[in-house]
Amino acid sequence: MSFRKDFLWGGACAANQFEGAWDVDGKGVSVPDLCTNGTKDCPKSITTKVEPGRLYPSHEAIDFYHHYKEDIALFAEMGFKVFRTSINWTRIFPTGIEEKPNEAGLQFYENVFKECQKYGIEPLVTLSHYELPYGLVEAYNGWAGEEVIGHFERYCHVVFERYQHLVKYWLTFNEINGGTTQLGTTLSLGTVKGYSGPVNGIQITPQLRYTALHHQLVASAKVVAYAHAHYPQFQLGDMNVFLTAYPLTCDPKDILATQQHNNVLNWFCSDVQIRGAYPSYMDRYFRENGIDLQITEEEKEILKKGTVDFYTCSYYMSTCITTHENSEEVAGNLAGGAKNPYLTASEWGWQIDPDGLRYTLNEIYERYQLPIMVVENGLGARDEKGADGHVHDSYRIDYLRKHIEAMREAAEDGVDLMGYTPWGCIDLVSASTGEMAKRYGFIYVNKFDNGTGDLSREKKDSFDWYQKVIRTNGEDL
Ligand code: BG6
Repeated sequence: MSFRKDFLWGGACAANQFEGAWDVDGKGVSVPDLCTNGTKDCPKSITTKVEPGRLYPSHEAIDFYHHYKEDIALFAEMGFKVFRTSINWTRIFPTGIEEKPNEAGLQFYENVFKECQKYGIEPLVTLSHYELPYGLVEAYNGWAGEEVIGHFERYCHVVFERYQHLVKYWLTFNEINGGTTQLGTTLSLGTVKGYSGPVNGIQITPQLRYTALHHQLVASAKVVAYAHAHYPQFQLGDMNVFLTAYPLTCDPKDILATQQHNNVLNWFCSDVQIRGAYPSYMDRYFRENGIDLQITEEEKEILKKGTVDFYTCSYYMSTCITTHENSEEVAGNLAGGAKNPYLTASEWGWQIDPDGLRYTLNEIYERYQLPIMVVENGLGARDEKGADGHVHDSYRIDYLRKHIEAMREAAEDGVDLMGYTPWGCIDLVSASTGEMAKRYGFIYVNKFDNGTGDLSREKKDSFDWYQKVIRTNGEDL
């Protein structure tokens, strides 16, 4: 057995990390527009306004805004069946609070989706990928404010209506469970009113964190139920960062700690979004952490009604959990953990674990029995041009090959896999560090960490390789 005949091969990007044009055609300021550049050793910062003399990578990014035709043509040349991107909320509602949408913003995405349609590429659209309007941070402290739910609904209703004939697949919040992590506090919850400092430095109470996350879960359920009622042709998915965690030892205490860790980090949000109710294991977690959510009967009904049609996640790495001391800590995507002695890691410290993808997909499918799409995966690496002026990224091909093999094994195990969109199919700005040097693309973009570069695009070796993978439906890796 192999991949489904209608398997959706493609790639993924997010508006704030590749569009640039941050203040063009009426666009307002999003949270990432106030994030400076950083490195793996020096975290990027968020400021309360644009400060002179600092570099804000989202402002130009790779300028997809003005290169979308060229870029989509390259995606089509690779054979993409699907292209995952996001709508930058502030192009449509500049502060998030306006009653009327910004036509220029709506027109831009219409052009992008029509360009995809021209090549038979299905857009997969994330409604909110770390792109909260900063106006909502100032007005309500981000998702801490219940009012943001209504503003999000208005935005979604407008884009559903406008793109109903162009877009079928939608995801509500990118990596919604990332809100349980320190970096997600800024990027996802936006509970940073008045805060300037490292993006992973803001401290909030557990009560505030889970209140904000609850508002996102309710908002997601509301727009999913609305979409099902008004646009039966739509398919809506959740989106989780899957941070696969193993017990470091066979000490039962490590097993229990891993189970609890996985419940809160990896399962809680998707349990709500797929099963339609808060899972029982969260009651104890809330009790022991002084969290009191007061979920109303009406909200329970909303959560029950607004369950998603398919499951999606990002998967880059795995980590270990232990109750023992002296374990070596490693970095990771939004969260790290204990070092796994059997794995190697990327330069940014993310442990590479293709078998973990097969294991994870089996776990997810057994739990939910819904079709699954892996909507992010890939190797962030420093690409150097060879003597012939081209990027020979055999390390990236190797990473992707092993992960596709793992997906094929999972399909063989019986998992219903519907698609795969590796991350940053064209080089873009790193979400965690703001670097350009951490590249994921099949397409190299001449843009550098100091903000220079002519933005020209070039194919890497992985471009031709991925084209072959798609052409053979994953048979020839
Ligand atoms: C995911 C995010 O966490 O990982 C993306 O959804 C992000 O926005 C990707 O870019 C890779 O992380 P990074 O930090 O290497 O860009």
